[in-house]
Amino acid sequence: MLGVLAALTFAATPGHAAEAQTALGGKLVVCGVCHGVDGSPKLEGVPIIWGLQENYILKQLREFKHGERASDVMKKVAINLTEEELAPAAAYFATKNWPERAKNASSSAPPPTMAICEACHQQALVGGVAAPRLAGQRYDYLVESMGHFADGKRKNSPEMSSIMPAISAADREAMARYLSGL
Ligand code: HEC
Ligand code: HEC
Repeated sequence: MLGVLAALTFAATPGHAAEAQTALGGKLVVCGVCHGVDGSPKLEGVPIIWGLQENYILKQLREFKHGERASDVMKKVAINLTEEELAPAAAYFATKNWPERAKNASSSAPPPTMAICEACHQQALVGGVAAPRLAGQRYDYLVESMGHFADGKRKNSPEMSSIMPAISAADREAMARYLSGL
């Protein structure tokens, strides 16, 4: 993925929304390379960011930039934005529509360990001020991020760091499967 990033020096690939080329002087064009020009990421482990909660996106960008949330890729991306550009970047993606995707065929009953999630992630897990949207997020990303909260690699949320270590890997996998199918 860092290779992808290196190739971005000659950005402005055809197909990028003209709009992304004008926002923040074209600085958001790069985001589409990984997060999808239509909001649907094609790369493994890359989350959907279109339509995520604005306060959440802003918090993540700040934390990537300053290293409170570890990600080599997103650190390189975020340090290219100035402090002042983080809020407009968050607003830009928050106001886009969550991408329509092919749903998992079987949306079974929620795993029992999910009973507490709606308290913060809101009804139907669509997110709100308290916590971000999980419904319809990519399966691979959900498994990975829950794993990182559980093993302490992702440390930017006291709430999630207290919840995830108590949930088994198998239960996390079941929750990710259910959530990605919503
Ligand atoms: C080279 C690929 C790549 C590019 C380019 C990229 N991202 Fe990311 N982004 C990622 C990956 C991978 C993650 C997941 C990081 C992790 O959890 O380890 C991520 C995570 C995020 C998250 C956190 C989402 C969540 O659900 O927690 C936000 C917000 C984000 N990126 C915004 C952006 C913005 C804005 C841009 C453009 C300025 C951008 N990204 C460019 C790969 C990329
Ligand atoms: C006490 C409130 C609370 C509860 C309960 C809670 N969460 Fe969270 N969760 C949060 C907050 C706050 C964040 C955002 C953390 C951050 O700022 O990075 C989050 C983030 C996440 C993320 C990362 C999303 C992303 O885009 O990177 C996942 C996955 C997640 N929660 C899953 C769950 C699941 C599954 C449950 C139920 C077992 C749950 N959470 C219960 C507060 C909560």
